[in-house]
Amino acid sequence: MAEHTEAAAYPVGLRLAGRRVVVLGAGQVAQRRLPALIAAGADVLLISPSATPSVEAMAEAGELRWERRRYRDGDFEGAWYALISTDDPAANEAASAEAEARRVWAVRSDDAAAASAWTPATGRSEGVTVAVLTGADPRRSAAVRDAVVEGLRDGSLAAPHYRSRADRPAVALVGGGPGDPDLITVRGRRLLAEADVVIADRLGPRDLLDELPPHVEVIDAAKIPYGRFMAQEAINNALIEHAKAGKAVVRLKGGDPYVFGRGMEEVQALAEHGITCTVVPGISSSISVPAAAGIPVTHRGVAHEFTVVSGHVRPDDPRSLADWEALARLRGTLVLLMAVENIAAIAETLVAHGRSPETPVAVVQEGTTAAQRRVDATLATAGERVKAEGIRPPAVIVIGDVVAVGPPVDR
Ligand SMILES: C[S@@+](CC[C@H](N)C(=O)[O-])C[C@H]1O[C@@H](n2cnc3c(N)ncnc32)[C@H](O)[C@@H]1O
Repeated sequence: MAEHTEAAAYPVGLRLAGRRVVVLGAGQVAQRRLPALIAAGADVLLISPSATPSVEAMAEAGELRWERRRYRDGDFEGAWYALISTDDPAANEAASAEAEARRVWAVRSDDAAAASAWTPATGRSEGVTVAVLTGADPRRSAAVRDAVVEGLRDGSLAAPHYRSRADRPAVALVGGGPGDPDLITVRGRRLLAEADVVIADRLGPRDLLDELPPHVEVIDAAKIPYGRFMAQEAINNALIEHAKAGKAVVRLKGGDPYVFGRGMEEVQALAEHGITCTVVPGISSSISVPAAAGIPVTHRGVAHEFTVVSGHVRPDDPRSLADWEALARLRGTLVLLMAVENIAAIAETLVAHGRSPETPVAVVQEGTTAAQRRVDATLATAGERVKAEGIRPPAVIVIGDVVAVGPPVDR
C-alpha cells in the first residue's frame, strides 16, 4: 500500500443510508465526523470506553449505537466503512489490518498514509456538496472548500441552477437586515446574486445593489411613481409583472420581511396570481440596531421580555392597535419602530400609565451603517432630546433598564 499513498485518491460519494459504519474512539475527531455520518443516515456503531459530552448526547438521542469498550478483533463484521480514531496506536494498527482484510474502507486519524480512505474537507451550499482532497495538506483542503462554498453562497462563483430553475419559486422575498451589507443572510445574498430583477426598499443593505451585475434590473420601490396609498399596489403589480415574464425576482426588504414589512401582503398578492414565493427571514432592526449601539434587548436580572411596537400612529389615534396602558405596566424592554415623530406623545402616555419618567431611553438612528448615531435620554426627556438632536428616521427607540447595562460606548 505504502508506495501508492501519493497516487491520486479516487473521489466518490458514499450513500451510507442504513449501512453499518463503525467508529472507533469518541474524541474530537469522531465528534467532528459523526454529524455528517448521521446526516447521511448511516447505521453508526461507536466503540469507545469514553466519549466527549457532545458524542454522548448523540448516543442519548439515539442517533448512534454506543458500545462502551475498547476495540476488539471482529468489530468490522458487516461494516461498509470505518473511522479509526482511538488514542491507542496499537489498536489503530490492528483495526486497520482488520479493515484491510475485510475490505472495509477505513479512515485513520493518526496515520493518513496507512489508511485506505481519506476524509475530504466538505461543505454544503443549497444542495451542492463540495469535497476537497489535497493529500497531505488538510488546511489547504479546508481553504479551497471555504472559497468554493463561500463563492456559491454569495454568488461570486457563477454556478447557475440548470435542472431546478423551473421548479424554484418565481419570487424571493428577502429580508436584507438593518443596512450593513454583511448582515444579510447567506441565502438572501445568494438569491440576490441569481436575480434578474431586484425590487428594493429604501431601508436595508442598499450597498449590495452596486455589486449586482449590469444585466440585473434594479427597481427602487420608493420611486415607483404612484400616489402614496397606491405604492404597495404598484409594488405588487411590479412583482407580478416580472414574475409572469419568467424573471427571477427578488423583493429586497429592510430587516425581516414580516416585522412591519408588509411581507405577507406581497405573498398574498402573488398567491392570488398563482405565483410562488419563497420568504427568506432577515435580521430585524428591532434587535440588531440596539445591539449595534451596545444595547442588549434582554439581560439576565434586568429584563425578561422585550416587546416590539410600531409607533407610526400616536397612542390616542383611533387607528392605534397597541394597548399603551398595558405596555406601560411592563417592566421589560420596549422597542419602538417608526416612532421618531410620535416619541413625545408615546413617552408621555407611558409615564401617565405608570412607567417611571426616569426609565432610560436610547434612540439609535441609521443603525449598523456608517451614519449610525445614538442619543440617550429618559422617558421624561425623550421627546425634547429627539427634537433638539434633530433625530430623523430611520431610528429604533429602546426604552428600559437594558439601555444602561452595557459598557460606555461612543455616542
Ligand atoms: C417599515 S419598518 C420595517 C422594519 C423592518 N422590517 C425590520 O425588521 O427591521 C421601518 C422602521 O424600522 C426601523 N429601522 C429599520 N432599519 C433601521 C436602521 N438601520 N436604523 C434604525 N432604525 C431602523 C425604523 O424604526 C424604521 O422606521
